[in-house]
Amino acid sequence: MKEQLKSIEERAKSELSKVSDIKLLDEIRVRFLGKKGELTGILKQMGKLSAEERPVIGQLANTVRADIESAIAEKQALIKSALAEEKLKSERIDVTLPGRTPKVGRPHPLNAVLEEVEEVFLGMGFDIVEGPEVESDYYCFEALNMPKHHPARDTQDTFYINENVLLRTQTSSVQIRTMEKMKPPIRIISPGRVYRSDAVDATHSPIFHQIEGLVIDKGVTMADLKGTLELLMKRLYGEDTQIRLRPHHFPYTEPSAEVDLMCFNCHGKGCSMCKQEGYVELLGAGMVHPKVLADCGIDPEVYSGFAFGIGLERITMGRYNINDMRLLYENDMRFLEQF
Ligand code: DAH
Repeated sequence: MKEQLKSIEERAKSELSKVSDIKLLDEIRVRFLGKKGELTGILKQMGKLSAEERPVIGQLANTVRADIESAIAEKQALIKSALAEEKLKSERIDVTLPGRTPKVGRPHPLNAVLEEVEEVFLGMGFDIVEGPEVESDYYCFEALNMPKHHPARDTQDTFYINENVLLRTQTSSVQIRTMEKMKPPIRIISPGRVYRSDAVDATHSPIFHQIEGLVIDKGVTMADLKGTLELLMKRLYGEDTQIRLRPHHFPYTEPSAEVDLMCFNCHGKGCSMCKQEGYVELLGAGMVHPKVLADCGIDPEVYSGFAFGIGLERITMGRYNINDMRLLYENDMRFLEQF
């Protein structure tokens, strides 16, 4: 029996040394130590032994059982930690992998430039006002000294709702609405959409944006106009920026001027961007016509003022070197992502 017990221990240990699977380990345990296992089988025969042999064999059997049990426990711990290790390895997160960058929105270039312009004017004490895009003939033309059949209307053909209601061609309509409502001193800008029945090309669109400006107070002069616009352009295009006022005609200003920006590309020398002019045309401006003031109930003997209308697309294109206006409306992410 002693030999049998020894052999059980040896075989159990040798099998245990080879096993690496929890299930097989359990099978080994059942086979050697289970109710119908080999060791139990031996113990069942203890009755046959003499009284002296019984405690000796009994003790040996207990030692063998304890040895095998501890060998199983040891093996079990080994297998479990190996499994845990493997699991950790397979579930490892590689923190060095590049992340997926979330798409971050940003202002459209037109809005970005508009915001800059608004900042500059807010800093000079201007208010920002808005006016309707569907406008009456009166506010869009008539009150601006452009009665029906005035030739200046020719350049501003638009979309008519009916004979007297139309889509405004210029934000200058807001000048009239403002002067009707506010008493001087007035200092406002009014950004917004305007419409003209123009065909689409690199520099034209039937919908575009203007920023109107209006200042009315005692003693306002053309120098104030120039200083205001110069400050704006320096903020937009850099401190070395220069502007130039050129005589022009608008029915609602006297005198009137067109304002040019010294070409940011060639600094006035002349290049392909400014068509060899050295300057690019930016906006229209002038001193508000006395008749326009009077029609709005402001005494031109007491008050004077200046007004201007900036094309937002034009200053945005200049700002970012965009050579085709259509890019601003196509919502092509490849274009928009560059700003
Ligand atoms: N309304 C003019 C245009 O659309 C721009 C303009 C010129 C606005 C002179 C003004 C101004 O306020 O005084 O071309």
